[in-house]
Amino acid sequence: MREVDFIVIGSGIAGLRAAVELGRAGSVLILTKDELTESSTRYAQGGVAVALSDDDEIALHFEDTMRAGAGLCDPEAVRVLVEEGPQYVQELIAWGCRFDRAGDQLAFGQEAAHSRRRIVHARGDATGREIVRTLLERVRELPRVEILPHAFALRVLIHEGRCLGVQYVETRARTSHTVRAHAVILATGGAGHIYLHTTNPDVVTGEGMAMAYEAGALLADMEFVQFHPTALHRAGAPRFLLSEALRGEGGVLRNRFGERFMPRYHDAAELAPRDVVARAIVTELQRTDADCVYLDLTHLPASFVRERFPRIYETCQHYGLDLTRDWIPVSPAAHYFMGGVRTDLHGWTGIAGLFAAGEVSCTGVHGANRLASNSLLEGLVFGARAARRALAFASTAPALPSLRESNLSPEEAELDGAITRRLRTIMWEAVGLIRHGERLRLALDDLEALRRAAPTLATRHLATVAWLVARAALFREESRGAHFRTDFPAPNDAQWRCHSIQHRERGIFTHPIGTEVFA
Ligand code: FAD
Ligand code: SIN
Repeated sequence: MREVDFIVIGSGIAGLRAAVELGRAGSVLILTKDELTESSTRYAQGGVAVALSDDDEIALHFEDTMRAGAGLCDPEAVRVLVEEGPQYVQELIAWGCRFDRAGDQLAFGQEAAHSRRRIVHARGDATGREIVRTLLERVRELPRVEILPHAFALRVLIHEGRCLGVQYVETRARTSHTVRAHAVILATGGAGHIYLHTTNPDVVTGEGMAMAYEAGALLADMEFVQFHPTALHRAGAPRFLLSEALRGEGGVLRNRFGERFMPRYHDAAELAPRDVVARAIVTELQRTDADCVYLDLTHLPASFVRERFPRIYETCQHYGLDLTRDWIPVSPAAHYFMGGVRTDLHGWTGIAGLFAAGEVSCTGVHGANRLASNSLLEGLVFGARAARRALAFASTAPALPSLRESNLSPEEAELDGAITRRLRTIMWEAVGLIRHGERLRLALDDLEALRRAAPTLATRHLATVAWLVARAALFREESRGAHFRTDFPAPNDAQWRCHSIQHRERGIFTHPIGTEVFA
């Protein structure tokens, strides 16, 4: 059986940043499900939130993040994010990442709920590509890092409470493998594809969360799913993201009658927090009996729009829409998971040798609602921190015991079409932007049945994540941040200003904000 020092699952920002750290000290195998550049990171548009501009302060970034999190952020985690963020972004620039500039200064964009212009971006709206390019270049300079594309991880191996390796299927060759390692970092991203409509690429199906849950890790705050208000709504087109930065630069939302409706819902209008804008759109759709609203940038200078948002402009053109002249049809889509595998401030999952970083994890930085453009920053900061803790663990861990695991069957990597379609529909209709206890209860029963019926591990993992989200949504009897229930429409601080935690054996329970979960 093959053995390496470290396995990283995922080649987005968190996995690549972790691999840079690990590859300086040991052998690293990066397993990634598709082509190595395929990830949510690659499609990131708006940019990275970081307090680097002259009129900004780390304390303001801290306050904005805490406010967006609606009472559920862990302050220590947010402090780490905003204080260490600038040094990691500077490091990325030193490694050759070309963020856009205004003269010789970085150019800062504006997004919702930020009190300053603080979003650094690259080639206008192609930030993710530039970050992936930079990190991949760095990883490729490290001779002990191997990247294996089309390697679908399905199980982490746990023996006597310690993680010893990973089982995966090479989907092109249809072969299955077991690799042992001193430490494993989960960097598999979120789980947008448990929903019918999502901005996420196809690889984002949540196995990291399911594998960790099956291994006995804690999953936190799974009810908090962020829906992006403005995904392209056009027959035959994917749910392509229309960045919040478009509204940051002056784009407005109109209903089917051409009325600008956001000022009726929030003082900050189009720049209200993301959950407020997304729910306002749903309300407006119901009120006007429509299936989309419109993003209008036609009042902005056409040359500015083309230059600032070249990729969005081109994509809209591809679907017959001119961003400078047409109102663009949009509606909300599942976008980001605030919850995930609970970790400490060093990416540790509570299981010896198992770490998690990036969107798969829940460090406590996002609370009930992520501040726009904080997730790339989280991937950088916590990817590096998790790697450093994995290095420390491996340097003192006892030798790996031998393993007698039989390999998986390659079919385990296949998704059952009928179950997947049914599951995504249930999630969209009953566990989406607007929820109600009765519907959640029925959805949970259906999801439990689908989970039992899943013929492959990949299908079961998808069903497990959906079921965890639905169970947490039913558990939390209040509305807060991205979680909104019509039967409990207000926040209830006395009872619910706490995290939800789920464990395979211990069920679902609450945990106080800002306290050590593994104590
Ligand atoms: P990802 O970048 O999603 O990478 C996950 C990796 O894991 C992929 O390589 C995937 O193939 C691999 N993987 C998954 N499952 C398996 C498996 N079972 N086996 C092997 N490999 C697996 N955030 C911002 O801060 N700013 C933005 O401007 C921004 N724009 C966004 C635009 C879009 C369209 C989307 C979808 C998200 C955006 N976000 C943005 C969110 C942000 O991009 C993600 O949260 C972040 O990139 C996640 O990074 P990650 O490394 O955790 O995961
Ligand atoms: C966007 O560009 O609107 C996405 C930013 C984010 O998800 O943080």
